[in-house]
Amino acid sequence: MSKLLQGKVAVVTGAGRGIGQATAELYAKHGANIVIADIDDAPAQETKKLVEAAGAQAVIVTGNICNADDCQKIIKAGMDLGGGQIDRCARKYCRYNKRRRNSQDD
Ligand SMILES: NC(=O)c1ccc[n+]([C@@H]2O[C@H](COP(=O)([O-])OP(=O)(O)OC[C@H]3O[C@@H](n4cnc5c(N)ncnc54)[C@H](O)[C@@H]3O)[C@@H](O)[C@H]2O)c1
Repeated sequence: MSKLLQGKVAVVTGAGRGIGQATAELYAKHGANIVIADIDDAPAQETKKLVEAAGAQAVIVTGNICNADDCQKIIKAGMDLGGGQIDRCARKYCRYNKRRRNSQDD
């Protein structure tokens, strides 16, 4: 596989399961190091194994992307991993989903 993201840093929210996990693994196979952001730690750990098996670095930030302090931690982790630069953000769980869910609950 060609390494389209070699040496890049990607932040993936909702990376513990589903589309986010698949995105994190695919980016890692293309050479990117990944910040795995998810509200649940256990699935995030599973994603970390997949990323590392692909030969990339993984950092987990367990937190809620609807919380500003947790978002700051996610960005800081990306900046630390990338030496001050984040190359890509994949929002596979985003604030929009939370708002939509809330409006359906109301
Ligand atoms: N699967 C589809 O066909 C599809 C289609 C259109 C839209 N979507 C949307 O795309 C998103 C991802 O879909 P999926 O099927 O991969 O979902 P999923 O439920 O399999 O994975 C979502 C991940 O996001 C994490 N998460 C949930 N709330 C969070 C929060 N507040 N902060 C951080 N992480 C949080 C969960 O722990 C989980 O690991 C969903 O929001 C879904 O509504 C999915």
